[in-house]
Amino acid sequence: MSNGLTNLRIKGIERGKRVYIIVNGKKTEAYEGETVASALWAAGYKKFRTSVKNRENRAPLCGMGVCYECLVTINGIPNIRSCMTYVNNGMEIETDE
Ligand code: FES
Repeated sequence: MSNGLTNLRIKGIERGKRVYIIVNGKKTEAYEGETVASALWAAGYKKFRTSVKNRENRAPLCGMGVCYECLVTINGIPNIRSCMTYVNNGMEIETDE
């Protein structure tokens, strides 16, 4: 991967069309049908946000829209649940990493 992170996707799995998203300013591979959370995980991102109260690292927990631990900024809109949002080509994502 061009962003220096590890590609954690399982080889040989049939995927949607390859697209590119911009994560913290870096062009990152993703596939149609993936959520933003899964694309970030697959690209090796481990910290999605910082908790307001204790300034702790946070990342997806439930993966189904309940816990709100996966919030990121997408196309300039803050606090979007990355586990509930599908990637689009050219989407710009910001994490607290
Ligand atoms: S991982 Fe729980 S709301 Fe997204």
